[in-house]
Amino acid sequence: MKIIPGKASQALGARIAAELGCELVLCEFRRFPDGELYTRIIGDVEGEHAVVVQSIRSDTDLVVLLQLLDAAEAEGVSKITAVIPYLGYARQDKQFKPGEAVSIRAIARSICFSAPALDSIYVVNVHDRAELRYFQIDVDVRVHELDASPLIGDYIMKMMGIAPTPVVVIGPDEGAEELARAVATPYGFDYDVLEKKRLTGDEVEIKPKELSIDIEGKNIFIVDDIISTGGTIAEATKLLREQNAGDIYVACVHGLFVQNAVLRMLHAGVKELISTDTVESLFSRVSIAKLVAKELEPGLQ
Ligand code: R5P
Repeated sequence: MKIIPGKASQALGARIAAELGCELVLCEFRRFPDGELYTRIIGDVEGEHAVVVQSIRSDTDLVVLLQLLDAAEAEGVSKITAVIPYLGYARQDKQFKPGEAVSIRAIARSICFSAPALDSIYVVNVHDRAELRYFQIDVDVRVHELDASPLIGDYIMKMMGIAPTPVVVIGPDEGAEELARAVATPYGFDYDVLEKKRLTGDEVEIKPKELSIDIEGKNIFIVDDIISTGGTIAEATKLLREQNAGDIYVACVHGLFVQNAVLRMLHAGVKELISTDTVESLFSRVSIAKLVAKELEPGLQ
């Protein structure tokens, strides 16, 4: 097995290779003068099980992923596994208005048909599990979803284990309830969710709500699957501060942090921000490498 990290998942790819004791394969990534992307696998992968690791957080990342899958196939690998830690375009999973593209369907089709040697795809905490049905098409590719919530729970426990005040886990909207429960339950943290209404792409309203738990003076961990503009977290933080919460920490699986997201959240009163390395940033304190390695390990025998 050889690990091929794409441009968007270099550190994670290297961590997965280290966990498995596998060889890393380097690639060349550049652009032609007209802006088109050029991708080349450097190194011998013929006859190998190739694991391509590449998150999709932009159009460029998607093209690089497709190029890597194509290049691996062309080099004569025996099998390809695609690890797509952050599956972008997944939030446009239905037609909200007539004429709209169902983006995740288009992306799923292009990936599944990109290389006949593609055997399995691993994704991490997709926005809505139901959207994985778009990968169940007329090709023999298996899709698996991995759950990073235990890793986030472990991190919170290590960080707050000796804190004198209890920890409360809060989901900023009902969609985050499953994640909040999964993070909180193994360690016996209390949890609840807020109510959110999206106003525009970067503005949300979090409605005042009587929580089922007393949060006064307690350490709060707001958890969400994705942080994009930071609007959701900023509004949730303001509301929790009005309710006299103690320190407010934030943990997410996929930290996109676009525009002024980090500033918005810190300005609202967030004390510390943590994400996994599905999208690599300064805040990637929790690595999903072990989670992925555990899935790939049986393939080493
Ligand atoms: C939406 O349902 C997601 O779970 C996140 O809450 C959302 O993507 C966060 O977006 P933003 O950071 O732009 O408020």
